[in-house]
Amino acid sequence: MDRGAFIPDRIWVDDARGRPQPIDRTATPQQWRAAVDGDTPIVTQLDDGATVWPATSLNATSSASEPSLVRAMLGALAVAPGHRVLEIGTGTGFNTALLCALAGDDTVTSIEVDPALTDRARANLHRAGYRPTVLTGDGAAGAPSQAPFDRVIATAAVTAGHIPYPWIAQASEGAVILAPWGTAFHNGVQIRLIADGHGNAVGPVIGAASFMALRAQRAVRGHASRLSDLLDTAAVPSEITSLDPREIRSGDAAFALGLHLADVAQSTAHDIDDAGTDELLLYHVPSDSAAAVHITAQARAAGHYPVRQIGPRRLWDEAQTAHDWWIDHGRPERTRFGLTVTRAGQQIWCDDPGAVVRTWPATATAAA
Ligand SMILES: C[S@@+](CC[C@H](N)C(=O)[O-])C[C@H]1O[C@@H](n2cnc3c(N)ncnc32)[C@H](O)[C@@H]1O
Repeated sequence: MDRGAFIPDRIWVDDARGRPQPIDRTATPQQWRAAVDGDTPIVTQLDDGATVWPATSLNATSSASEPSLVRAMLGALAVAPGHRVLEIGTGTGFNTALLCALAGDDTVTSIEVDPALTDRARANLHRAGYRPTVLTGDGAAGAPSQAPFDRVIATAAVTAGHIPYPWIAQASEGAVILAPWGTAFHNGVQIRLIADGHGNAVGPVIGAASFMALRAQRAVRGHASRLSDLLDTAAVPSEITSLDPREIRSGDAAFALGLHLADVAQSTAHDIDDAGTDELLLYHVPSDSAAAVHITAQARAAGHYPVRQIGPRRLWDEAQTAHDWWIDHGRPERTRFGLTVTRAGQQIWCDDPGAVVRTWPATATAAA
């Protein structure tokens, strides 16, 4: 299927530093075609449409994911003809079309929160010859009028502890529910749950995926520099840590730490002093807590890093404790974790559903 049939004429594609660059099909047709045919995500909306092409920002709010990831997710979803499928996050409609080709378009329902995107996706799907049910609305509520579903796929990420419970409640026995899933600290992985048809679902983390969040679960932006400034003005004395900050900011360690560090986010600033020093900042917005570690050449050589902490939560101490847990448990890779969702709440576990690492109680919307 030609992805180009679903991609608008005016798009943004990230440059090497992750900044979306505008591309116009008429002005630079070869560049546009190379992006469409390449294995790259294509940004189709910034700032919920408030940033108008060719202006640009760092806040992508809709995109067509890279084709290899789309294929991998469809493989994990294991869609067969006749399956009743629910997709959350229609976007361009490209993945919806692939779902229609696999299941049959009279059994596919897709929900998009943004009305302008829904209209565009409907038109794309129509032109390509597909007739799924495309709804505008909050996909967190599922689509009760079309339920039950044999397959549920989200193409917007869920925050840990907040899988919308209607996705489970509307799933038939044996249904597969696939969703990108992440914490404020680590975005993210994919979760593949199997429903029991009685309101429960359980399944493993199956791989990496970094998606934009469901609209109601977006992180509050713009606080890292404020908290970094707060740390600087507080002039707290440095402590010394031997935990290498580079070990915890990505990969399996970051995933495991994110499970323990409730609502703690991270950001890295590179070369803050023109002498090659990087700063890793951990921060928790509601309590104005922050910890900054400087990764200097000298610290790297010595294996000792200066840390400053402010606020009621001692975030570096928490990170150290969470890292100790990860080491004590044999440095588990992310795929050794799994999730259980019931009406009562959500639990992440390691190796066995009985070995619970973290529990979240049911939220008001989840329990509805
Ligand atoms: C990565 S894009 C989807 C890509 C799409 N599957 C495609 O093939 O083009 C994520 C989409 O999820 C939508 N979205 C975010 N929150 C949503 C919600 N609560 N309900 C429905 N759609 C949502 C966004 O507007 C965005 O279009």
